[in-house]
Amino acid sequence: MDSREMVLVIDFGGQYNQLVARRVRECNVYCEITSYKTPIEKIKQMAPKGIILTGGPNSCYEEGAPTASKELFELGIPVLGLCYGAQVMQLVLGGKVERATVREYGKTEVFVDTNSPLFTGITESNGNDPTAEHGTEHEVSTICWMSHFDYISKEAPGFEIVAHTAGCPVAAAQDKSRGLYAIQFHPEVLHTVEGSRILGNFVKNVCGCAATWRMDSFVETAVKEIKEKVGDGRVLLALSGGVDSSVAAALLAKAIGPQLTCVFVDHGLMRKNEGDEVESVFGKGGDFNINFVRVNAAERYYEKLKGVTEPERKRKIIGEEFIRVFEEEARKIGTVEFLAQGTIYPDVVESGLGGESAVIKSHHNVGGLPEHVDFKEIIEPLRNLFKDEVRKVGLELGIPEYLVFRQPFPGPGLGIRIIGEVTADKVRIVQDADAIYREEIALAAEEWKKENLAGKAESDRSVMTTDERFDYAMKLNPSWMPDQYFAAITNMRSVGVMGDERTYDYAIALRAVKTIDFMTAEAAQIPWDVLQKVMSRIVGEVRGVNRVLFDLSTKPASTIEFE
Ligand code: XMP
Repeated sequence: MDSREMVLVIDFGGQYNQLVARRVRECNVYCEITSYKTPIEKIKQMAPKGIILTGGPNSCYEEGAPTASKELFELGIPVLGLCYGAQVMQLVLGGKVERATVREYGKTEVFVDTNSPLFTGITESNGNDPTAEHGTEHEVSTICWMSHFDYISKEAPGFEIVAHTAGCPVAAAQDKSRGLYAIQFHPEVLHTVEGSRILGNFVKNVCGCAATWRMDSFVETAVKEIKEKVGDGRVLLALSGGVDSSVAAALLAKAIGPQLTCVFVDHGLMRKNEGDEVESVFGKGGDFNINFVRVNAAERYYEKLKGVTEPERKRKIIGEEFIRVFEEEARKIGTVEFLAQGTIYPDVVESGLGGESAVIKSHHNVGGLPEHVDFKEIIEPLRNLFKDEVRKVGLELGIPEYLVFRQPFPGPGLGIRIIGEVTADKVRIVQDADAIYREEIALAAEEWKKENLAGKAESDRSVMTTDERFDYAMKLNPSWMPDQYFAAITNMRSVGVMGDERTYDYAIALRAVKTIDFMTAEAAQIPWDVLQKVMSRIVGEVRGVNRVLFDLSTKPASTIEFE
């Protein structure tokens, strides 16, 4: 990228690794995730101002376990190791890591030395007298999140212990002279009361970052980069009408205007009426002054998907077909050098391309990309952003709030909300059920607003910063409002009764989740009466359904989508 300051998160495969990056960005410091396998030379080239080693699922002293080279700690760049990363640092530098007899897990009281640059500003969080138990006036107790079997039994030479818990003698250690810090607990997890402060202390006080990363600076830099890269070439954007591709479209429109053509492939797996809605917003007479082409490819997709039940194959087919349609459109338009996509950071990392996380799903816009593509290059201007950052960019670019806060819709569309084979009839069922669900949720939210927000919604947005507008819009909803919700059609048919008739029909599953980053999620607590109304309307109005289930699962262990 450019010369702005950057913190590098080195991924050892732990479950909270994207959270680390998010927390750093919340401190207004740009940060990227890379695998622990990244060669040291490449790390040097990236010139980070600080390095954070994440947690990981292994024991660092085992043969073949992910590790770091000694050189990493000798670059003169401050390094913070977290959990497994802390253990790796200690082991590599001559400390000792061992298996503990019991696992330390969950919220844990930790005693930290506030003289450490990491713990500056931390105050006692449990109301205890800080001097009563531990005797030094710089030591305070606070709550942290622990999750480890192994522990650092002896710190490496040159390090001093700056935090401990009842079960963990080295909960944190530092060597200030070398800028090396190791923390056994997880500051990135919100249960660690002072976690954001600790990460902020590291990136600002230890690494000396100026913390100037903001969405307006992102837009400025991204527009400049797009202009430089594209020159007077032409760009074709895969526009789905969802948040990501809409924001990508607006960003590209700002950068290169008429050189951009947006192609919207209606694959027949859109939500009910969505194809027409997308056309009305982005097409002629809509809000954006761009070239817009709609391709109706439903029949072609259904044909390709006939008899296919395996989720990954479905995703691959949908992804590949998508690219083929684009290639065809590109040929019609003439020479097109670039294909743009609304890929965002979680797509990249979950596809195993960014960090070290396992390939959970091949995301349509990343892992599903066929090898042969008839374009010079792919442009993904949002590739390094998390979802909420994408929304902020959208606001920054002046996209209407109703679009910016639209719930995400996956590239493969209803294809991954239809378990088993995709057929036109199943598409119809899931579309109708989903439309009812969305209608009722919107009605209930509207009612809530009438009762709770009279007048307040009119606050003057024009004096708000993007961050304030973002926070404000997020609060304009009842607390149960899901961040994503939809109907899926299970592949299960079961017995029911309608009038005097026995039925043997499909079950619809209703999904509704609360999530900040879509990496973890829990079921939204939609009021019971709303759910009941949705259920009775679906079984009453959608032919082919006799049962409605509400999905309570959290992510993990489930994903948000069904396939
Ligand atoms: P999962 O199901 O992985 O979903 O928990 C996390 C978020 O990503 C969306 N999603 C996708 N988005 N292409 C996309 O553009 C995909 O293949 C895809 N799969 C899941 C999902 O809707 C949720 O918001």
